Amino acid sequence: MLTNQVNENYIPFRARPLRRRERACPGQNHKYCTIPRFESSLLGLQLHMAGLVTVQPGGKRFSVDGSETVLEAALRAGLALDYGCSNGNCGLCLAQVLSGDAERVKPHDFVISDTRREQGQILMCAYTVRGDAEILATEATGAGDIPRQEIDARIKKLTRLAGDTWLLHLQTPRTRRLRFLAGQSALLSFADTHLSLPIASCPCDDRNIEFHVQMTTPAHWRESLMALKTGDSVRIDGPVGDFHLQDGAQRPRVFLAFDGGFAPIKSLVEHAMQLEHQQPHYLYWFAVDKDSHYMNNQMRSWADAFDNFHYAPRSATASGKPDVAPVFAELARQGISLATCEIYVAGPRKYAACARDAALAAGCEDRYISVNALP
Ligand code: FES
Repeated sequence: MLTNQVNENYIPFRARPLRRRERACPGQNHKYCTIPRFESSLLGLQLHMAGLVTVQPGGKRFSVDGSETVLEAALRAGLALDYGCSNGNCGLCLAQVLSGDAERVKPHDFVISDTRREQGQILMCAYTVRGDAEILATEATGAGDIPRQEIDARIKKLTRLAGDTWLLHLQTPRTRRLRFLAGQSALLSFADTHLSLPIASCPCDDRNIEFHVQMTTPAHWRESLMALKTGDSVRIDGPVGDFHLQDGAQRPRVFLAFDGGFAPIKSLVEHAMQLEHQQPHYLYWFAVDKDSHYMNNQMRSWADAFDNFHYAPRSATASGKPDVAPVFAELARQGISLATCEIYVAGPRKYAACARDAALAAGCEDRYISVNALP
């Protein structure tokens, strides 16, 4: 049922900075272990053999715990490697082991031909590595690299964050996970209602998908939303949109979120932190009323946890319009030139357009400005 309770301190498990440490010992902490308890005890020391996987081309790296499949570890690390079903049926996660040892830890129905086996190909969703390894695999770098998917998910939680903003937490079936890039959106369908919403969570957890819902939406939407309860089915159709992190650049990142535009910005920041991107990240969240900074505490905790993440809530001006000029002036005083930055803007169309124009006027190159203009 709905929980009509303000929960500004809500912190998803995966955002907590200790997450990596908690997952690093699955043999002792079976809550996070994907291998059944009896099986993991039989495997004994093998569970603690972590490996470092290097993905070619590109050379990105991530660690694999003994109990994890290569795919699980890659997703946890925030990489967008190609996959489909995640349960050994489709063959879309085939990768070639260039060096190192791989071992099957999950059954799969997809048949790996003898030719592929001789080439060292494995299914990333069914195999782990023993020790360090190098693999050849493809990774999505743009929105066009990820197919559109339709998934019937269940409501895990619908709870009020603050004011009229609610958290809608959907969970997909284990065998149907949503591939998306941080910053993208999805269409939600339930009870003859169709909503397009930005995804607020990180693709590093492709089963738990979160949305921030403004209950000030039209009355018929609000009624349908309020009638939802835990366990109800919601169809997810997505991902849609081309708002995502630019790949490869090491530029400082400036995020400008306006009201509910915070949701896709949070997804971007969470993903960047998960990927351990080292450049500075500056988040300015403009709110037009006092309840709009509905995750203020969480952003402050992230700023405390990550040296390269800086957060500053901002209020609307007396005219009701957010003014980004003081933000750019503040960055300039810190020695940050917009000409060297990537800018990510998300929020209502009129604010997003103003912010983009201001960033251009302040010297940011057009190709480094990404805008998610919401209705
Ligand atoms: S993702 Fe389908 S077989 Fe691995």
